[in-house]
Amino acid sequence: MHHCARAWGLYRPAAMRVLGIETSCDETAAAVVDADRRILAERLFSQTREHAPYGGVVPEIAARAHLDRLDALVGETMGEAGLGFADLDGIAAAAGPGLIGGLLVGATAAKAMALASGRPFLAVNHLEAHALTARLTDGLDFPYLLLLVSGGHTQLLAVEGVGRYRLYGETEDDALGEAFDKAARLLGLGFPGGPAVEKAAEAGDPARFRLPRPLAGRPGAGFSFSGLKTALRRAAEALPAPGEQDVADLAASFQAAAADTLADRTANAAAMFRRDCPAGRMLVAAGGVAANRHLRARLQEVAAAHGLVFAAPPPRLCTDNAAMVAWAGLERLRLGGRDGLDFRPRPRWPLVSANGAP
Ligand code: KG4
Ligand code: ZN
Repeated sequence: MHHCARAWGLYRPAAMRVLGIETSCDETAAAVVDADRRILAERLFSQTREHAPYGGVVPEIAARAHLDRLDALVGETMGEAGLGFADLDGIAAAAGPGLIGGLLVGATAAKAMALASGRPFLAVNHLEAHALTARLTDGLDFPYLLLLVSGGHTQLLAVEGVGRYRLYGETEDDALGEAFDKAARLLGLGFPGGPAVEKAAEAGDPARFRLPRPLAGRPGAGFSFSGLKTALRRAAEALPAPGEQDVADLAASFQAAAADTLADRTANAAAMFRRDCPAGRMLVAAGGVAANRHLRARLQEVAAAHGLVFAAPPPRLCTDNAAMVAWAGLERLRLGGRDGLDFRPRPRWPLVSANGAP
């Protein structure tokens, strides 16, 4: 029967499948993806409620929450996918950069499952997972220009292959997501900050407050956001009793300044990318901040002005998730990659040295 089906061309071995685990910050997540770019199942638990009273992520609370939830999330994910561990080709976990307590929980769980099932373990760089997500969602080919904007990172780079990244510029101080979070706190918009600022900005006038566009007009593709943050605080403190409209105007003005800065720096990087990778056609945004609709619209304009096409994963796959970890693991696995069970999670793990590069 098997033999017959194969002879008639009906038989096709199941596409490679990888389970991914994400625990590097405050999302506990598990997902299974396959080489045909399908997300077979996914589960995500956001620890927003656990951290909200503190106005930010508390590492110890995060680690404990991951420990409480992860087993059940993995079980539900495998159940929904209808798979046993024997059906997997690899088990991947984000192993850095991030909060070490959470990384240890996720990586140790993945190692244990890999050991028990005899499947390869993959220690995934969380930034690489963001960087490769557009290949899962949009099937992109290498190379592409990537703007990676998250809570911990802001950088522009050429993605030339799995493990092959050319850095054009990164932030000298705050990451943009961090700046959004601080802006939200300052404006009393709560936690998590990015989505709250975006929401408040909808009803605001982006031209009311003249906030700086740090580094705009200067050569290079670096970033700086601390001056913008300070300027926002000054503008807010100059208002005697800020009302709802004031807050909306401040949020909109902040978001507009962030968008102008991203556009300026990305335009410079686009010129470098066209020089280095003349065959490249795409500008990709990834990371939590790339969920912002206003920023996405601006980046689309920048791409068009530089002969590039803009792509970004859907917002739920821009913010932290396990499908991206599973996918990055799968990309490395099919190139022959795997990691030892002695791999130590890394709180710091720059992308340019991801996966074996010096
Ligand atoms: O990638 P991510 O989920 O976690 C990290 O790896 O850091 O990014 C989280 C960051 C947070 O700073 C959050 O405020 C920001 O992404 N973010 C946003 C939006 N959604 C999430 N920033 C601006 N606008 C949004 N809609
Ligand atoms: Zn992230």
